[in-house]
Amino acid sequence: MPVKTGKGFSKLSKEAKMEWIVNEYLGGDDTSINLLKSYWHNDAKTQKIHDEFIENTITNFYIPFGVAPNFLINDRIYCVPMAIEESSVVAAAAKNASFWMEKGGFKSTVISTLKIGHVHFAWYGDFPTLKNFVNSIKDKFYKETKSITANMRARGGGIKDINVIDRSDLEPNYYQLEAKFETCDAMGANFINSLLEEFAKILERELQSSDLTESDKKIVIIMCILSNYTPECIVRCEVNCKIDELSDDPKMDKEEFAKKFEQAIHVANIEPYRATTHNKGIFNGIDAVVIATGNDFRAVEACGHTYASKDGQYKSLTNVEIKDGNFKFWIELPISIGTVGGLTSLHPMVKFSHQLLGNPDAKKLMKIIAAVGLAQNFGAVRSLVTTGIQKGHMKMHLLNILNQLGANKEECEKIKLFFMDKVVSHSAVVHEFCKLREIKNKVSINNNP
Ligand code: MEV
Repeated sequence: MPVKTGKGFSKLSKEAKMEWIVNEYLGGDDTSINLLKSYWHNDAKTQKIHDEFIENTITNFYIPFGVAPNFLINDRIYCVPMAIEESSVVAAAAKNASFWMEKGGFKSTVISTLKIGHVHFAWYGDFPTLKNFVNSIKDKFYKETKSITANMRARGGGIKDINVIDRSDLEPNYYQLEAKFETCDAMGANFINSLLEEFAKILERELQSSDLTESDKKIVIIMCILSNYTPECIVRCEVNCKIDELSDDPKMDKEEFAKKFEQAIHVANIEPYRATTHNKGIFNGIDAVVIATGNDFRAVEACGHTYASKDGQYKSLTNVEIKDGNFKFWIELPISIGTVGGLTSLHPMVKFSHQLLGNPDAKKLMKIIAAVGLAQNFGAVRSLVTTGIQKGHMKMHLLNILNQLGANKEECEKIKLFFMDKVVSHSAVVHEFCKLREIKNKVSINNNP
């Protein structure tokens, strides 16, 4: 029966928390304590950094950190760090990076970098009165927040625009103070949220001291928050080549491949079931780099999915054009990330990722991330319209299956060799493994040494 913690659980030491979990949820079996402790970093200072990222840390949770080399992006070659657990993602990124390197690489451009936030409020007068009033006090929003914006302004950023928006068609009496920001190399969430809370106070105070009617002075601040939807923080990345160069495989009909590829992108544009999986594959690559560089992958994904729906239907984030014997493939999406602040100066692996990428600024990192998303999608769609996705995926997954079965090094080698020219499936691997160990009853494989 699950048990409630006493008050002050968060104040307990890590050991006391683990003990509580073992006693209350694991029947007192303390073998888990050794497991949890085995994931602690052996340098106490490094572990302390991790402990303090969140509340109630009891240990660390590993996911693999790999690299995809040979990413030629705007004439510079990157070795891109990727943190992800899915077997075939890094392999696909690396393979497709090399493929496009030979064709001139990825051309990435940042189109815009504005972030956005809102004071959401209720007001009970007519909109023209509100609009005039906000315009008359606009200067105060800038002037009274000068101390908060000083550093950002010194770097070329700050508040770029403030407007009041009528949303009362959606919800009675609902309006927004919408502000746009340039946050330079910072993701800027704390900067934006702090400013929005100040704006709300200024708006409320100025209304109260205005000569508007008593009923026009009434305002209810609902909330102040940045939006993770940043349609004015856009990056575009493109690859192109001659259709003839689309494969080295002499058996492949390149025209037919290009046509099928185009159809696959068209399907993702018109069919949300497919678009969701198509874009998921793009985020396999994007998220892995976003995580490795210490950015917020939930924000980047949420934003990408909203952008994919901007025309009223969820669509592909990539597009293709086949014209005059040329193949052009591109991605365009909002990516709001930072290269300073947050985890970037704290997490040792995040610092390493930035170093590996040559300490890019936020715009450069946007360009790199978009290229990885595009490479990932090209690889997925190419497999889908040619060999099928399972061939490459299951080859990479083979090692996971062998590890689950407890295969030793020699057995792994033998089974990998056996599947070189065969289709990998879970049951086929189990069958081969049992044959090798001369296990008759497959049930016993769960207890393998
Ligand atoms: C699997 O993680 C991602 C794919 O399904 C993406 C796609 O279908 O385009 C392979």
